[in-house]
Amino acid sequence: MAPTDDDSDSNPILPRLSRRAFFTGAGASALTATLARSVAEAAPASAAVVGPEPVPLSLSINGRTVTVQADPSTTLAELLRNPLELTGTKVGCDRGACSACTVWLDGEVAASCMTLAFDARGRKVTTIEGLAQGDELHPVQRAFVENDAMQCGFCTPGMVMSCAALVERNPQCTLDDVKQAVSGHLCRCGTYPNVFKATLAAAKGGGKAKGNS
Ligand code: FES
Ligand code: FES
Repeated sequence: MAPTDDDSDSNPILPRLSRRAFFTGAGASALTATLARSVAEAAPASAAVVGPEPVPLSLSINGRTVTVQADPSTTLAELLRNPLELTGTKVGCDRGACSACTVWLDGEVAASCMTLAFDARGRKVTTIEGLAQGDELHPVQRAFVENDAMQCGFCTPGMVMSCAALVERNPQCTLDDVKQAVSGHLCRCGTYPNVFKATLAAAKGGGKAKGNS
């Protein structure tokens, strides 16, 4: 009688195993072994393992180099607020949905709650505390004050960082540009009209901070 797919040994001690199941299993094992070998070969032999315990981390923040001990899973927002006590950066959602935690990385806006602190190595981090030049507010900060562009103020540092990045990049920005720049920012107090007004006023006045021109 010709063997079938379900042909199996009649030995009652061994588990029943079809020929197809046997070869499928063997193929999967071989594939797994090959993949594991490829991954092992692809990994650089010198790749350093960091953590999970805290390790030294040096970052450039607001023009100063700071060195702290940090767990590699620490977000930039966490690091800024504690231990660095730069609490101007707010954490609203902690998942990239509200933009309250916006900072600059090399002058570009970034959600610090979605950025690992270790990924900020070698980059210039600017927070709301670093925007003013000494006692002189950034034009966008000043315009927010003059145009009453805040109520409770929780969203304000993030809004200012995004609006300041816009006017630094494009002093001729339009209302649509401002709306686009703050489109990811949630303001529960509804200050958007005054944020638009303030940002356009700052742009009209030249926009750039003196140190950034
Ligand atoms: S706290 Fe980072 S996006 Fe909301
Ligand atoms: S001013 Fe209160 S959340 Fe924006």
